[in-house]
Amino acid sequence: MPPIQENISLKPFNTFGIAAQAKYFVDIQSEADLESFLKHPMVKEETLLILGGGSNVLFTKDFMGLVLKISIPGITVEEDGDESIVTAGAGVVWNDFVQYCVQHQLAGVENLTLIPGTVGASPVQNIGAYGVELKDVFHSCTAYAVETGRSRVFRFEDCQFGYRDSIFKNELKGAYIISSVSFRLSRHARINSQYGAIQAELANRNITRPTIAAISEVVSSIRVSKLPDPATIGNAGSFFKNPVIPAAQLDEIAARFPKVIYYPVGKTHYKLAAGWLIESCGFKGVISGQTGTWKNQALVLVNHGEATGEEVYSFSEKIIDEVCQKFGVTLEREVNIL
Ligand code: FAD
Ligand code: EPU
Repeated sequence: MPPIQENISLKPFNTFGIAAQAKYFVDIQSEADLESFLKHPMVKEETLLILGGGSNVLFTKDFMGLVLKISIPGITVEEDGDESIVTAGAGVVWNDFVQYCVQHQLAGVENLTLIPGTVGASPVQNIGAYGVELKDVFHSCTAYAVETGRSRVFRFEDCQFGYRDSIFKNELKGAYIISSVSFRLSRHARINSQYGAIQAELANRNITRPTIAAISEVVSSIRVSKLPDPATIGNAGSFFKNPVIPAAQLDEIAARFPKVIYYPVGKTHYKLAAGWLIESCGFKGVISGQTGTWKNQALVLVNHGEATGEEVYSFSEKIIDEVCQKFGVTLEREVNIL
């Protein structure tokens, strides 16, 4: 049974670098740890927080319950025709997993290079970047029910994946602890270089027939140029989702703001670039106390050193209000507020 620690600082465990405390903290290093720990009476008595890399959370206060930090390691590969089913422990660092796949010529996750966090959290918000979402390569995941301690396999059709969304954020929020995720990857590269920024960077490097390693490097360099590195400046990536609106609403906005940036979603809806909306309200690179928006990406809120979670949260309220007043669109937070 892993030891239960008390009054632990969560600062090293969240990429925003917020100085919150956890009343109880347990580091789960294996499925056996998880199975045995789920029998502990504290699991029913305390409020639980399942934590991976802490790269999509904002602590607005101390966490007065039990944090289960998931550190289950391991990667295995099973061949299945031209494809491979690659299974990784929930605690594997997402980018280590991506690099493993790139090195072993397993195609499908290279566009998701450098996303912070763990493999176990990747299905929770169906992580996505540069034209690929987790759902495009997801095979299944194994998860343990908090209530019963029993494991269950979730297949693609069970997960209700959507844009930054899944069943694990909605009706099963907090109910299951993901212990491993399996991915269906191809041993023959299916390069996805549709995203504008990837094409521009490939052209810049004179690469006409990119390998998955080249895509991974290109995505890496685009990300480094736009996004702050949490090791030096606290943040949790995009703070808000890009809002999805019906065509009629886009027409109204575009009539008033012809430069609005949008992308079609199916035949009837459009996704607006929230970064552009926020920048248009004068927020790009703004510093407000110890928080603010990133100078190269207004969608990312940052901690300039000693920000409290409450300070970041109230700054985000201000952004929501101003974007709503100007565009009539209500931004929804992507980051999990605790
Ligand atoms: P945490 O922050 O620890 O947890 C996130 C949520 O998942 C919580 O609700 C938690 O309870 C739950 N959870 C975590 N682990 C498990 C588990 N094993 N079982 C069940 N529930 C669990 N996201 C993108 O989609 N695309 C991006 O391009 C992207 N870029 C980013 C860039 C930066 C600089 C940063 C800091 C973040 C970025 N993110 C991005 C957000 C973040 O990386 C992802 O949401 C990531 O999947 C979070 O992983 P984590 O392990 O840190 O999760
Ligand atoms: N833009 C602005 N001003 C800004 C920021 C962006 O005008 O301050 C414009 C850009 O010029 C571009 C458009 O908005 O034309 C989109 O910007 P970008 O390509 O940077 O992507 P994004 O929509 O802001 C989304 C994801 C990111 C993901 C990138 C790349 C969401 C909420 N965010 O950002 O994911 O890495 O696309 O695919 O969907 C995250 O989820 O944490 C995250 C970082």
